[in-house]
Amino acid sequence: MGADVLAQKIIIDTDPGQDDAVAILLALASPAELDVLGIVAVAGNVSLEQNARNALKVIELAGRSDIPVYAGSVRPIRRHLVTAEHVHGETGLDGPDLPMPTTKLQAKHGVDYIVETLLAHDAGTITLCTLGPLTNIALALIKAPEIAPRIKEIVMMGGGYFEGGNITPVAEFNIYVDPDAADVVLRSGVPITMAPLDLTHTILSTPERLERIKAIGNKAGAAVHAMLSFSERFDLSKYGSRGAPLHDPCVIAYVLKPELFEGRHINVTIECASELTMGMTVADYWGVTGRSKNVTYLRSGDADGFYQLLTERLARLP
Ligand code: RIB
Ligand code: CA
Repeated sequence: MGADVLAQKIIIDTDPGQDDAVAILLALASPAELDVLGIVAVAGNVSLEQNARNALKVIELAGRSDIPVYAGSVRPIRRHLVTAEHVHGETGLDGPDLPMPTTKLQAKHGVDYIVETLLAHDAGTITLCTLGPLTNIALALIKAPEIAPRIKEIVMMGGGYFEGGNITPVAEFNIYVDPDAADVVLRSGVPITMAPLDLTHTILSTPERLERIKAIGNKAGAAVHAMLSFSERFDLSKYGSRGAPLHDPCVIAYVLKPELFEGRHINVTIECASELTMGMTVADYWGVTGRSKNVTYLRSGDADGFYQLLTERLARLP
């Protein structure tokens, strides 16, 4: 990439979670391509307070305590918060023994940060990379609808169709936690690229791939190995696959190298009424409804190319 190519401005909205942490590390290891303006925590995998603390731990692990971290929404818009300690552990970042952060959270609310940053930068220059429930993004769009045309793209991890769900038989966790927020975002008219379970369940952290990350020999590689070796337990026992899916880093990898992935522009609509199918992403993959197309839906990717990118970038960190 030529030196004259400006780095893409991104805001990361996240609920760290081990896979979120790996995504954040991948972004921070790629400063020539990605200008991480800020990180906003949202309630999801664990509580907002814990997710925000984990985000601070991760920027310190990357040696980037200059990145501003904000706390956003403490709960979903309508529904009670559902968390995932059964996957991520009590801290949400179990596995490595990362020190308590000394970096402080920004005082501003994360939703206000998103709105103000989008209004302060030229329209169409900021990509929102969302790794958790979409509560912050939806509240920002409701508080300041004028930001919608200013967002270059939302690249989100969430949803699933051919693969079904992972928190219920039909719903993926990020959408299930706040289906109303997902509905607001998917109806916003903002360009959206979705990395659903259909994709992430083909991006598996096999033992060989984890060993190559550990063999990097730096702090980041050791921490990522410890993170994924912890969080994989749940998926390995559930799916019996040879490696656990690595969800959130697909978002950052897509922004870095979209050519690693294939997708289709389709309509995706969120179930917000039925308790049976709450949070289901009804993906009209075959175009049978005539509903307007609102999502680039990533269904497949180059897993070897993804892990080669991830491992090479992690090696750039401390
Ligand atoms: O369903 C996977 C998603 O839920 C990932 O973002 C993971 O971190 C959890 O938030
Ligand atoms: Ca997440």
